[in-house]
Order: sequence, then C-alpha cells, then structure tokens
Amino acid sequence: MLKRIAPIILFLFFSPASAYAAGEASVSSPDGKLMVSVLTESGKLYYTVARDGKAVLTPSQLGFRLYEDKSFERGLQITGSRTVGFDETWEQPWGERQFVRNHYNELTVEVREQAKPKRHLSVVFRVYDDGIGFRYEAPADSGFGEIGITDEITEFAFAEEARVWWIPSRWWNRYEYIYNETALHQVPIAHTPITMRREDGLHISIHEAALTNYSGMSLLKKHGLTYEADLAPGPDGIKVRLDGGAFVTPWRTLQITEDATGLLDSSLILNLNEPNKLGDVSWVEPGKYVGIWWGMHLAVESWGSGPTHGATTKNTKRYIDFAAKYGFDGVLVEGWNEGWDGDWFHNGDVFNFTKPYPDYDLEELGKYARERGVRIIGHHETSGSVSNYESQMAGSFALLAKNGVAQVKTGYVAHAGDIKRVDENGKPVYEWHDGQFMSQHHERVLVEAAKHHIAINSHEPIKDTGLRRTYPNWISREGARGQEYNAWGSPGNPPSHTAVLPYTRMLSGPMDFTPGIFDLLFEEAQPNDRVRTTLAKQLSFYVVLYSPIQMAADLPENYEARQDAFQFIRDVPTDWAESHALNGEIGDYVTFVRKDRNSDDWYLGSLTNEEGRTLEITLDFLEADRLYTAEIYRDGVNADWDTNPYAMVIESKTVTASDRMALSLAPGGGMAVRFTPVK
Ligand code: NOJ
Ligand code: CA
Repeated sequence: MLKRIAPIILFLFFSPASAYAAGEASVSSPDGKLMVSVLTESGKLYYTVARDGKAVLTPSQLGFRLYEDKSFERGLQITGSRTVGFDETWEQPWGERQFVRNHYNELTVEVREQAKPKRHLSVVFRVYDDGIGFRYEAPADSGFGEIGITDEITEFAFAEEARVWWIPSRWWNRYEYIYNETALHQVPIAHTPITMRREDGLHISIHEAALTNYSGMSLLKKHGLTYEADLAPGPDGIKVRLDGGAFVTPWRTLQITEDATGLLDSSLILNLNEPNKLGDVSWVEPGKYVGIWWGMHLAVESWGSGPTHGATTKNTKRYIDFAAKYGFDGVLVEGWNEGWDGDWFHNGDVFNFTKPYPDYDLEELGKYARERGVRIIGHHETSGSVSNYESQMAGSFALLAKNGVAQVKTGYVAHAGDIKRVDENGKPVYEWHDGQFMSQHHERVLVEAAKHHIAINSHEPIKDTGLRRTYPNWISREGARGQEYNAWGSPGNPPSHTAVLPYTRMLSGPMDFTPGIFDLLFEEAQPNDRVRTTLAKQLSFYVVLYSPIQMAADLPENYEARQDAFQFIRDVPTDWAESHALNGEIGDYVTFVRKDRNSDDWYLGSLTNEEGRTLEITLDFLEADRLYTAEIYRDGVNADWDTNPYAMVIESKTVTASDRMALSLAPGGGMAVRFTPVK
C-alpha cells in the first residue's frame, strides 16, 4: 500500500476575480458525492448537507447568542464566498497510520449584519469524501470584541430517523456509561461522538475537532429530529468567554460514510487539527506497560498507606523485574504520593505531588528501573481539585523527570460539573470536565509537561478532539467505561460494549482501555464481579482498541500462569504503519488489521458482542507473493464468555495474501493473529 508523501496541491476553483459571490454558496467533496450549501432566509443563516443528492441535514441554523450584546443570529447577509481545494499527505510521529492524507474542498462564507453594529465573521466548511468539518472564524476587526457566548446556535436538523448509539451528557458521570441504542428522536442530550445508522445504510457520526479555549459541545434535542450544539457552561452560566480580537471555534464534524467500517478508516478529526506545535517529539515513546493498579481495583491492595499499600519500593521492584523480564517499557505506579488516605474521591486538596509516601523511594526506584531499561510511569490523581494540581504540577514534572519518568497518567475523579477551581478571589467555583476552563487546563498541562519531555495519559479527561496532532505528547486518555468497571462496576461492561466503542468513543482518538485481564473471574477478590469476555477477546483488544500505549493490566502472577496467551501481549506492537477495518457493524462486531511500524509484521484483532459468529476474510492486506506464519489465538470450540471463557486454541499456519481465513468468534469472544513473513 502507498507510503508516499504527496506534494501539497492547493488550487482555486475560480479565478480570484470571480471567487466572491453574494447570496448562496455551495461546495462538494473531492469525489463529488457530499454537498454543503449555505443560504440565508429572512436574515437567518442556514447550511444544508446532502449525499448523492439525498438530504443528510435539512436547513440547519448557524449563529450565536451573546450575553453582552444582541445575538449574532438575525439580519444576517452573505457578503461573499470563496472555494479552494487542498490535498496534502502528512506524517504522524506515532499513530494508527504513519501517513495521513488530508484532501478536501473548502468553502469560506462571509457573513455580515445588515444593521449596526455590522459585525462580521466567516463560516468555513471543509468537505472531505468521508465527511465535513465547519467552524466560525472571526477576524480581529470582526466587531465582536470581548464576548460571553450564552448559546452557540449551530443546528443539526437530521433529514431522516436513524438508530443511534449514544451516552448522556450533563448527567452525574463524565463519559463512563454503557452506550444506549435508541431511535434518533429519543435522544435527549448526548455527548459526542454520537453515531447513527439510517434505514438506507448511511452512517453519520457527529463530533468536534480542535477543542481549545472553548467549551465542549453536546447534542441537545430541540424538536423532532432537530438537534443543536449545547456548550458546557461555566460556573456563572456563560458558556464561553472570549477576550476580544480574532477567534475561531472548534470544528463541528460530521463523518458520513456508506458503511460502518468507513467511519473506522476516517482521519477527518485529526486532519482538522493544527500540525505539531512541539517540534522534535522523539521523546514521546509509544509502548507497553504494566503497573501497580489492578490490585487496587480488586481491593487487594490500596492506594493509601497501610499494610496493603501497593506503591512500596519492594512491590515496585517486583513489577520492574517483571517488566524487564518480559520486555515491557513502563511500570505505572499509582498511590506513590501523599494524599490518598481517607476519602480521596472528595479530598483532592490534600494531594501532594512532590511528596512520596515514606515506603516509596522515588530516587532508588528511578535508578533501579533505569538500570533495567524500564521507565516508571508517574501518576497524578487530582480528584478534580484542579487549582491544587496546577499550583504543583511544574514542580512535580521536574521531580519525576529527574527520576527518569517520561510519561504521567493524570486523573480527574470527580462527578461531572464538580471540578474545583479557586477563582481570583480565592473562592471555590465548580467547572465541568468539558468546559472552557478544562480545555485550557489540559492545554496548560501538555505545554508544561512538554518542557520536561513528559507525555500525558489523562483519565476522566475532556473528550478527545484530535489534539494529539498538535500536542503529540497527549499520548492517550480514558473518556469512556474502561476495563476498571469489570472489577467493581457490577455488572461491569456487557460483551457488546467493546463492539460499540470503535464506532463511537474511538472515533475521537486513542483510548487507555487497559486490556489484558487473564483471571476473568477473580472469585476470591470480588465474587460479585467478573469480566464478561473470553480470554481470546482480551487479546483482540490490543489490536481493536487503538492506543500508542497499551497496558497489560492484570497481576504478574496471572500472566506467568498463562505464558502461552501472554506471548501475544509480549509480541504485539503499539505503533502502526497502516490500519484498516475489514468488517463490522455497530454494537455487533469489528475486525481490524494493522501493520507494525517497525517490522513487516501484520496483526489482526476481531471481536463480537454476546453473539457468536464466523467472519470470512481474505488476507489480501498482506504483501503478495510472500509466505507468512500466522500465529492464531482464537476461542476454543465451546468457548463462551459466560460458561467457558478460558477455552482457547493457539495454532500456527502458513498463509499468503491470496488465502481466505474464517474468524470464528464465540459469544462474547474474539481473536488475535500475528502474521510474520517466513524468512
Ligand atoms: C480512575 C482511573 O480511571 C483509574 O485508572 C485510576 O486507577 C483511578 N481513577 C485512581 O486514580
Ligand atoms: Ca476512570
């Protein structure tokens, strides 16, 4: 497959003289199938979207309501428009694919108020073969000045009813829900990405790209099938404050494809982000890690001090030895710093990010790890006390970096809307995880961490909007129900959960799901909980659920007891040259193949929901005329997540690109394959 950096092609469709036209404006995708039109009707501004001549969005309003002044909503006029094409291939420092093609047609529509104060801005649409991004851009002389946005009017008036996979927004949790599957009209307010399939098979996913200095967008029902952008409010109810001068909003995105797998191959959200701002990022290292972690979730170890404290020097050395022996890059240590004792969920202000517990020797462990070619991964749980964290983070990054840490996992465990910020008057105010303050906070963390060559893996984060392109040290994040729910979330994640994630949460970017639990039942530790997958399905996650850092989340002894299955985790890379979705339907199943960035190996991961099924594939992704050894890890004949989760067959076959393969997946099952060229 092609790995060539195409030259940047930038061309105007019209000569500059004729490029500006008042009234209506439209633009289509490079393949001509998608079409966006912008129009005004009685002074209100609308856009429409169609595919192959069939409506996707009927006229949907654009504009803002503001606190200070009259809204930018009525008396609007299109004063000009311009279309330009763009085609570029850029390289990712790490990723699910090395080269990304960014190919779109762009329409800029200039809009002005007819009456005073005659403010003006542009709405810019980028139309790709697989979807659309659009945003508002106000130049310095727009006349907006300092504003408080109380409502972004942006509508999505869906033309047809659809099946939708969604999680609620503005409720008590952040993004950690089991997905709902309902009719579109039944969705009250949802987080994005929200993904739907129409009766005619068209798939649409709504999200946003490049969310900086702005509030996250949810989709709120207005009436019928018409939804609008609902921004997370600040503590005073104002949703976004802009301090004058030029501004741009995040891109509102619609990925629109003929089938479910089309969504999985889309790079639209990444493409709409700004290029790398950090320069040389060779210090950002993809890789695999183990950690002092699952024991706390099973409640056999503790974050806080005492007889079961997990983060002791002795226990950490045991993990470092294990990591060194089996080729892992990192050891995550949670509970290393003071502040965990008592009700840590509600006591974020007492976290100290530079003071290790007395039984954790930071310097000694840094040295011990370095000598064994392993890195400690730092941990900053804030419990949502963000001002407390911001006052200490620079000092902590410096201390950790001095001791060999190149990656820090952050955490914002607090109910949604409960992020504590201490304002200018020393008064606590409460923010949303996806509000403007938190979008600024995460950027501050990334910039500060980059100074110390530290990469960030945020849990309870703001949603991903592709900023890893701009800040490649944002290496992963959570932002959905991960493996942890299987330890204590009775009844944990249903088998369908990981068959929904690829088409929803994962469209936004990498997820630190923490796969690889081998002791699926842990009857002694948590008799009321269990993991609802087969063992082979745990292996499939390493390929299906993309992240440049992947954890082997279980306890070391459980891996040593299943060396045969463990081999796959040891082999699988986390940085890819190419990725392709071979088949799939939302909530049912999915198959990915990915090529290792550092060898000629290919990997396959396939998984299913509670239904067993056999999927036929051809191996034509492999290089032609070459023999490969396929090491196959599949569900055993009678495997079943419920009754027989450990039944697994590990076998080896010689295959070529012209072969077919049957992937037989047990109920709640999966499959993982490594393809290595025969020497
Ligand atoms: C929630 C995170 O998702 C989990 O990984 C972590 O162990 C706990 N918070 C404690 O920080
Ligand atoms: Ca979490």
